[in-house]
Amino acid sequence: MAVGQAIADGQMIRYGTGANFTARFEEELCDYIGAGHALTVNSGTNALVAALAAAGIGPGDEVLVPAYTWMSTAVAPVQVGAVPILVDIDETLTIDPEDIRRKITPYTRAIIPVHMVNAPCDMDAILSIAKEHGLIVIEDACQAVGVRYKDKYCGAIGDLGAFSFNKFKNVNIGEGGAVITNDERYYIRARSYHDLGSMIRGHGDRMNEPEFIGMNMKVTEIQGAMLRVQLRKLKPVMRQMQKRRAELAGILDTAKDFRVTPHNDLAHAVSLSVLAPTKEKAIALTGQRGVFNRLRDSSKHVYTNWEPLMAKRTFHPKMNPWSWAKREITYTPDMCARTLDILDRTCIINLGLKYPAPLMQMVARKLAA
Ligand SMILES: Cc1ncc(COP(=O)(O)O)c(C=O)c1O
Repeated sequence: MAVGQAIADGQMIRYGTGANFTARFEEELCDYIGAGHALTVNSGTNALVAALAAAGIGPGDEVLVPAYTWMSTAVAPVQVGAVPILVDIDETLTIDPEDIRRKITPYTRAIIPVHMVNAPCDMDAILSIAKEHGLIVIEDACQAVGVRYKDKYCGAIGDLGAFSFNKFKNVNIGEGGAVITNDERYYIRARSYHDLGSMIRGHGDRMNEPEFIGMNMKVTEIQGAMLRVQLRKLKPVMRQMQKRRAELAGILDTAKDFRVTPHNDLAHAVSLSVLAPTKEKAIALTGQRGVFNRLRDSSKHVYTNWEPLMAKRTFHPKMNPWSWAKREITYTPDMCARTLDILDRTCIINLGLKYPAPLMQMVARKLAA
């Protein structure tokens, strides 16, 4: 119905006198996650690129990214002329604060912690390291829309955040994303960047920067209309996930062959995975009714499968950020061996929300036995 209204309005772009679906979605998203500003863009990847551009990250800068994430997180810095530096994850499946410390150089400008598979990063530790070293924190919350970390929502904790609304995400409209920030200057720079650096079309207000060249990352009002509907479904789904996660984790905690992975905020946990003592035991678990999926098998979420990045291959040899980086950067398949070991042994658990709780509890009891 919302889409029908967007079409009937005949006002397909966000600027104009129509229903302003996209602008209303942004207000509702800000209210939901407690953020000052949200800017809807056409993908999570572009949300990361716009966030980096807004923060002024560019040539010569190094950006710390985890070795376990969708390839977009590592590609986004390249799009603004910076280089990604890979950091190990820990057993929580998120970037390891201790390895962040080891990877910081005089050229590090930003950290992109990624809240993977709905599991929040150790944001207290990350923010404290960032403060100590004067680094910008851009949360990749593409896989964690609506996920809590203590008293805040993922994406609204660091300097900037990125959401994805693609088909596999908690808020899903096929393709889409958003940049989140509490900083007015970053918001306005992101807003300019996402529309070719334009000051027209209502972008003249609160302008705090001279125009600079940007991209076209805008969404249509149809996407805005769909997003408003999808956002309304988020809270009940997250509540259901939290309840189901607690029920299943309680049962799986009794298993002898594996243990439930640690989590950075158990009180609000919606993500469930288990860690086996060996790779072989994890492989054996994956056969179990499609409930367990081993993370090492998750394609381009594992850095060793980021072929173009590992080869430092860009569309044009002269547009290659590694050629102007301040030091030689090399990527090797064994550079984040700890991450590979954890991914080898970790299986994500499907919470099975489509199935009744007693059925999933029975499956969990069998697996734990
Ligand atoms: C962690 C992470 N970052 C970034 C992205 C990129 O989002 P999109 O597919 O909307 O460009 C994804 C999506 O798969 C993701 O999972």
